[in-house]
Amino acid sequence: MEKPTIVVCVTGAAGQIGYSLVPLIASGEMFGIDQPVEVRMLDIAPMMKVLDGVAMEILDCAYPMVRGVKYGSEAKEMFKDADVVLFVGGFPRKAGMERKDLIAKNCNIFKAQGAALNEVAKTTTKILVVANPANTNCLTLAKNAPKIPRENFSCLTRLDHNRALSQLAVKAGTKVTGVKNVVIWGNHSSTQYPDVSFATIDGKAAKSVVTDEKYLHGDFISTVQKRGAAIIAARNASSALSAAKAIKDHVRSWMLGTPEGEWVSMGVLANGNKYGIDEELCFSFPCKCKDFKYEIVNGLKWDEFGKAKIEATQKELQDERKEALGA
Ligand code: NAD
Ligand code: LMR
Repeated sequence: MEKPTIVVCVTGAAGQIGYSLVPLIASGEMFGIDQPVEVRMLDIAPMMKVLDGVAMEILDCAYPMVRGVKYGSEAKEMFKDADVVLFVGGFPRKAGMERKDLIAKNCNIFKAQGAALNEVAKTTTKILVVANPANTNCLTLAKNAPKIPRENFSCLTRLDHNRALSQLAVKAGTKVTGVKNVVIWGNHSSTQYPDVSFATIDGKAAKSVVTDEKYLHGDFISTVQKRGAAIIAARNASSALSAAKAIKDHVRSWMLGTPEGEWVSMGVLANGNKYGIDEELCFSFPCKCKDFKYEIVNGLKWDEFGKAKIEATQKELQDERKEALGA
C-alpha cells in the first residue's frame, strides 16, 4: 500500500533557490524515494508565467512519486492542508548588505504569510524559513500564526553547519562524512558561532586532529560566518544550489531522524533550552531529531571564548526582534 501523500509548499518557488529545490522534493531526495509528494509553488503574480514553465518541467521529468503539482499567488490556497511549508520567498541580500538589512523588505511578507498560515494551515504543518533574515522572519511568522505550535517552526542554519563540516574536512585532509557534531549557535548571520568544541573528526576530538587553535578561533570561524557574502561577491547572486541542498538536509533530518550520537544545527524557537538563551528568539542550537520532532541538545559546556560569541549573536537577534516586532 502506498504511503499517504506529503503536501509540500515552496514559497518564492520561481526564484533561484526554488529552481534547485523543487527537483530535490519531486525526486524523493527530501522525503524518500517511496514517499508520494504533492508539490505546491507560491510566488507573486508576475512570476506565474515562470511557474507555468517549472510545472511543465516537473511533468517532463516523469518523477515516479509526484502525485500533483499546483501553483499560484494566493498564499491561503497554497498553504491549505500543506504538511510542510518551505518559506524561501523574499528579497535576497546583495553585495555590501548584511542579512539584517532585509528586515524592512521581508518582515511584512512574514507578517502576512503568518496570518494566512494561521487561517488555513493544519496545526501539524512543519515550517522551515529560509528567506533572510531567516531567524527573525521565523519568529515573525510564529508570532503571526499562534494556532500552530512553536515547535513546528524552524529556520535554516544547516547551510552554515554544512559549510563548517566541509571546512574542517578540508583542513584535516579527510572525507566530509568523517566530521560530526559541529554546532552553529545563534543567528544565520556574520555573528553566528560555528563551534568545533564537541566535534569529532574520524572518531577523534576535532581539536586533537586540527591542533591549530589560531585557525579554529580565527579563519575557520570567519570563513563560515562570511561564506554567504563570499558567494555573493563571486556569483553576483546569493547561494542557491548549496542552500537547496541544505534545505533538503534539514527537512530530511527532521523527518527521518539524526543517527545515534549525532546532532545537526537548526534554528528553532528557544523554548525549553537550558542554556539561558532568551526564549523569545529563533536561535540555532544542536538538535537531535526523529519523526518530525526535534530535541535541543542541552548540557554542552561553553568555554569563555564561546560564551562571548554566543552573547554577541543573542544580542544581535534581540536587536533584530526589536526592529521587526518592536519589542
Ligand atoms: P530570488 O530573488 O531568486 O527568489 C525569491 C523569490 O521570492 C522570487 O521569485 C520572488 O518573486 C519571490 N517572492 C517575493 N515576495 C514574495 C511573496 N510575498 N510571496 C511569495 N514569493 C515572493 O532569491 P533566492 O536566491 O531564491 O533567495 C531567497 C531567499 O533565501 C533570500 O531572502 C535569500 O537571502 C535567502 N537565503 C537564505 C539562506 C539560508 O541559509 N538561510 C541561503 C540562501 C538564501
Ligand atoms: C547564505 O548564507 O548564502 C545566504 O544566507 C545568502 C546570503 O545573503 O548570504
